[in-house]
Amino acid sequence: MREMLAKIKQDAMAKILADGADLDQIRIQYLGKKGELTAVLRGMGALSAEERPLIGQLANEVRATIEEAIKQRASAKAAEELDKKLAAERIDVTMPGAAPRMGHTHPLTLVQHDMEDIFLGMGFTIAEGPEVEYDYYNFQALNIPENHPARDTQDTFYITEKVLLRSQTSPVQVHVMESQRPPIRIISPGRVYRSDAVDATHSPLFHQLEGLVVDKGITMADLKGVLAAFAKTCFGPETRIRFRPHHFPFTEPSAEVDVSCFACGGKGCRLCKGEGWIEILGAGMVHPNVLRNCNIDPEEYSGFAFGFGIERIAMLKYHIDDMRLLYENDVRFLSQF
Ligand code: PHE
Repeated sequence: MREMLAKIKQDAMAKILADGADLDQIRIQYLGKKGELTAVLRGMGALSAEERPLIGQLANEVRATIEEAIKQRASAKAAEELDKKLAAERIDVTMPGAAPRMGHTHPLTLVQHDMEDIFLGMGFTIAEGPEVEYDYYNFQALNIPENHPARDTQDTFYITEKVLLRSQTSPVQVHVMESQRPPIRIISPGRVYRSDAVDATHSPLFHQLEGLVVDKGITMADLKGVLAAFAKTCFGPETRIRFRPHHFPFTEPSAEVDVSCFACGGKGCRLCKGEGWIEILGAGMVHPNVLRNCNIDPEEYSGFAFGFGIERIAMLKYHIDDMRLLYENDVRFLSQF
């Protein structure tokens, strides 16, 4: 029996150390319930009483030796595999990376930010208002009478009789004057909606940038100064501005404001359609009724307001001749900015 145990030990050890050893298989073969060592132990009944404990001890030693050897080989194998894996998956951190394709700011947003920067530089702050608006803020508080054509469902998207998608950023003026006392100096860029069919110069959704200043002693000279400074920064230092009388219900007097054509300097070219001037916004002195609607005394305070179409400025600045390009988001177009 001693020889059998010695042989088992020798065979098992040889297998454990062999290349590609299947350790689970070896464990079953030698130590399992039906394994070779177990078979030897079963035969111990035939031994004498003196021999039995000695052989028993020897058998336990053999088992322990084989178990230990399997354990050690297993951990050696695991370490080897880890080393292999680490070597195979090694990363050269000094290799140049693959740069991800970066997006960039949309031309409309770019122009909006440029415009904001100019006004922030003049001491304006940015105010926001809701795009879903009450009729009161979009029209009534702005002195736009019940029967005014702009109120027509043909022009404005109504949600209910009293709730609509704002058709201009001017309602933000009212929100600001309701919640702040003068001095007020805000701009408000944002989306506006009108029931227009899409073409090269129209879209049912577009963007405006509103401006409002209210304080003691504000005059049209202040309005002119601010817009002249804006025009020079936005379109170039040679740019001049021109006021043409106009009508807006919420300003009095009102004007449409042109800039001298920055392409031809005013001589007349394709961009200004031979005019030498390009219209860029509407503006005027805040109507006393609007101030009163917001509990600001027109005897004490006065103000001016203006409103740009941001698309229009973007199209002029970048010589874009079709507004739809700004919304189609064709990368061949967008990547030029
Ligand atoms: N809200 C006007 C428009 O949409 C523009 C404007 C704003 C005019 C402020 C005067 C003062 O046409």
